[in-house]
Amino acid sequence: MLEAAKHLLTPSKRSNVPPFMVMDVMAAAALLDAKGARVVHMEVGQPAAPAPATAIAAAQAALAHGRIGYTETLGIPSLRARIARHYADTYDLALDPARVVVTTGSSGGFILAFLALFEPGDRVALANPGYPPYRHILSALGCEPVLIETSAETRWALSAKALIAEHRRKPIAGVVVASPANPTGTMMDADALSRLISVAEAEGIRVISDEIYHGLDYAFAAETAANLSERAVVINSFSKYFCMTGWRVGWMVVPEPLVRPIERLQQNLSISVPTLSQIAAEAAFEGHLEMEEVKRGYLENRGILIAGLPQAGLTKFLPADGAFYLYADVSEFTSDSFKFASEMLEKAHVAATPGIDFDPVHGHRFIRFSYARSADEMREAVTRIARWLG
Ligand SMILES: Cc1ncc(COP(=O)(O)O)c(C=O)c1O
Repeated sequence: MLEAAKHLLTPSKRSNVPPFMVMDVMAAAALLDAKGARVVHMEVGQPAAPAPATAIAAAQAALAHGRIGYTETLGIPSLRARIARHYADTYDLALDPARVVVTTGSSGGFILAFLALFEPGDRVALANPGYPPYRHILSALGCEPVLIETSAETRWALSAKALIAEHRRKPIAGVVVASPANPTGTMMDADALSRLISVAEAEGIRVISDEIYHGLDYAFAAETAANLSERAVVINSFSKYFCMTGWRVGWMVVPEPLVRPIERLQQNLSISVPTLSQIAAEAAFEGHLEMEEVKRGYLENRGILIAGLPQAGLTKFLPADGAFYLYADVSEFTSDSFKFASEMLEKAHVAATPGIDFDPVHGHRFIRFSYARSADEMREAVTRIARWLG
């Protein structure tokens, strides 16, 4: 092929982001399922339960009504107002609905936030381990993800000291915090989060708080960064607490001066968020009691794993405070968690995610279990792992 023609087919450097390895585990698990293996799925971070009945009914009514058109770019006004009310009910915060932006899942929120806050080349700090798309979206946008090491000893919390040490070495433009966090399920209490935000903002470091697992807290109630700073950007979603992963709807709470720039970005990038999903999302808030029942299921699952995994041979993990994950150190069995997860899948028919997805440095020592399915499946997983390791 001619050099010029070859060039036409060459993807941009910025598109060269790593894959999400959990998808490989999912594909292998699906193959086993197709052969009749009845795999226990603990690899994917998504609830097994459906959206609240109120959300489904609202979407059905809207479909029956007929036309589904575009909405306002910032979101349907009544949904933005309902989200603002959620802050009054949950965090005792009087939030102006004008600061709420409806997004295409929290994933859409990250793209908007990173574009609105950072210039190409900006360095953005992330806790390591952490949710992989933070670093991959940043690099696709030409920013530099800067991994800050955390450890089990400090409950995987990003420390202000480590952040500032990195900032002194070379300036940091922003930091992403997540509590409860993925993959560890650990949380920062309000004081620790407040300290981190104050220290960062005093240095001119912008704070983005990923609050997607709020509502799924077992140890103590999560505090929103919106209550701690009017300058922080908060990102949230209907995917996890409200079991609406496939609906692709989330929201941001942004400082007032950023509303219009984010509106302009979203106008151009996607016009508006899917209308049916916004209608369902507004009604989801009325399904709170149903979702609390789902949350009680996660709590039961968490108990089954915290008691059962050590008996099965996996002893090194923290009893996570929130979300639906346990992050286990498997270094006594392997130096290759991808191989460990593959063998566990093949021999025990339990699918989990290798830590290397979340931590390019130490992830070969860890695997992540997601416990968002039934209690019976959790018991079955423990029995199978015990048999396999035993
Ligand atoms: C920490 C964290 N943030 C964001 C997301 C993205 O979720 P969504 O785009 O469905 O809101 C996930 C999904 O697993 C996650 O674990």
